[in-house]
Amino acid sequence: MLTRRDFMKSALATAGAAPFLGASCAETFTIAAAAPRRPSASNRVNLAVIGCGTQGFANMGVFLQDPRVQVTVVCDPVLSAGKYSYQSEKTCGRAPAKAQVDAFYKNTDCKMVADFREVIADPTIDAVLIATPDHWHALQSVLAMKAGKHVYCQKPMSLGISEGKEMVRVAKETGVTFQVGSQQRSSSEFRVACELVASGYLGRCMSCDVGLPGGNKGMYGHEKSVGRDLSPVPGYFTPEGMWDMWQGPAEHWEGNKFIQGIHDPMCWRWNSRTGGGMITDWGAHHLDILQWALGMDSSGPVAIENMTHDRDPNDRIFDWAANYSFDVVYASGFRAHVSNKFPNGLRFHGEKGDLFVSRGHLDKPEHLRKWNEKSDLKGSDTKLYRPRAGVSHEMDFIDAVYSGGRTACPCSVGHRSITIAHMANICERLGVASLKWDPAAERFTDNADANRLAEVKHHNGWKL
Ligand SMILES: NC(=O)c1ccc[n+]([C@@H]2O[C@H](COP(=O)([O-])OP(=O)(O)OC[C@H]3O[C@@H](n4cnc5c(N)ncnc54)[C@H](O)[C@@H]3O)[C@@H](O)[C@H]2O)c1
Repeated sequence: MLTRRDFMKSALATAGAAPFLGASCAETFTIAAAAPRRPSASNRVNLAVIGCGTQGFANMGVFLQDPRVQVTVVCDPVLSAGKYSYQSEKTCGRAPAKAQVDAFYKNTDCKMVADFREVIADPTIDAVLIATPDHWHALQSVLAMKAGKHVYCQKPMSLGISEGKEMVRVAKETGVTFQVGSQQRSSSEFRVACELVASGYLGRCMSCDVGLPGGNKGMYGHEKSVGRDLSPVPGYFTPEGMWDMWQGPAEHWEGNKFIQGIHDPMCWRWNSRTGGGMITDWGAHHLDILQWALGMDSSGPVAIENMTHDRDPNDRIFDWAANYSFDVVYASGFRAHVSNKFPNGLRFHGEKGDLFVSRGHLDKPEHLRKWNEKSDLKGSDTKLYRPRAGVSHEMDFIDAVYSGGRTACPCSVGHRSITIAHMANICERLGVASLKWDPAAERFTDNADANRLAEVKHHNGWKL
C-alpha cells in the first residue's frame, strides 16, 4: 500500500531534477524545475491557495470573482479552527476554504491538502497565493517559483534581508510572475500622491512623516488568549505532524510543544520567530509607498538613525516593541521620520505645502486642491505604474500571468521596500540608535553583528 508519505516522495522524485528540500521529517524531496506556463486566453489560471487564514480568505474571495481564475486546491495544516481570527466572523483552515470554493463554483471539485509540498509537486497548478505567516513566505515562494509557478506572495515578503535577496535571485532566474501583496501599489490615491511628489508639485520635498501602527500584543484584544506556558497542540492541526508544518523553518518551542494562541494572527506577528512586529507588518505598506515616491524601487536608504523603542527583552512571546520611532535617511539628504505616534499614512513636507495620503484619503496642499490628473498631469511629469483601469491588485497579478508583463509590486521592488523595515528591526534587536547601509552592496557598512542578523536562520531541516 502506498502511504501519503510514499506518494509524496515518489511523486516528487519522479518529477526528477533538482533536489531541494529537507523537512522536519528529515526526508529529502526533489521537484522538477519547470518553466513558467502562460495560459492561453481561452484557458483559466489554475490557482492554489496556500494558507487559508484571515488574508488567505480575503484574497481568495477576490480571485474567485475573476472569471479567468479557477481555484483548484486549498492548503493548510489546520483542518478547521472554527472562529479564530481577529475578524471574529472569519474562520481558518482548509475545510472551510474548500467549502467556500465549492459553494462558489457549485461543485465539489476543489481539492484540499495539508502539506504544501503536494501543491508544489502538482503540475496542473499554474499559480499560488501564499498567505501563510511571514516565516514561510520565502521558502514557499522559492519552491513554487522553481517549480514554474507564478506567485502572489503576501507582504511582508520575507522574514529577513537574506531571504529577500534569494527570492529576487530566483524570481529573475525563473522568470515567473511575482506580485507582493502590498496592495497600496494598486490604489490610485497612493499612485497620485507619489506622482505629485516625484513630479515636483510640492516644490523641493526633503522629508516625510510615516505613521505605522503601534502595539505589540494583539491590538484586537487577543493578548488574554495567549498562554505563557507550553500546552497541548490543538486537534485541528491534523493529520499528525501538522503543528510542525505550521512552524516549518521557525525555531521550535521547547520540546516542539505549543503555546496556547501563538498561532493566532494577532500573536505570531509579534514574535520574532514568525513575524517582525508592526514595523514589517505595516512597513510593507507605507515604506513601500515612500520608496515609490522617491523613485527608489531598485535602491534604498543609506542609514537608519535615531532609533528609539520600548522592546521588552524579557518577554519571549511578544518580543517586538510596542512604541518606536526612527529616521530613514537617503543619500540625497531626504529623511523620513517613522513612528507609531504619527497618524497612519504618509505626510510629505514640501516647500509649497504638505501632502498627506492614507487608505482612501488624499489631502493635497492648497495650491493643488483643484488639481486633476486627467487634465493637469503634464507630458513631462513622472507617470508611475498603474494596473488596468478598475482592476484590483489580485487581478493585476492575473493580467501579468497571461501577458508576462510586470506587476504593480514585483519581487525586487517589494524586497527593497521591506529591507528598510528589516534594517530598523535589526537596530531594535541590537539596541543601537543607528546603522549605515550600502544599498548597492545590500550590506551594513558599520556593524558586523547587523550583517549577521540580516542572515535568516532556518530550522528543522528547512533550507532556502
Ligand atoms: N495585504 C494586506 O493588507 C494583509 C492583511 C492581513 C494579512 N496580510 C498578510 O497575510 C499573511 C497571513 O496573515 P493572516 O492575518 O491571514 O494570518 P492567519 O494566521 O490568519 O493565516 C495564516 C494561515 O496560514 C496557515 N499556515 C501556516 N503554515 C502553513 C503551511 N506550512 N502551509 C499552508 N498554510 C499554513 C495557518 O494555519 C493559517 O490558516 C501574513 O503574511 C500577513 O502579513 C496581509
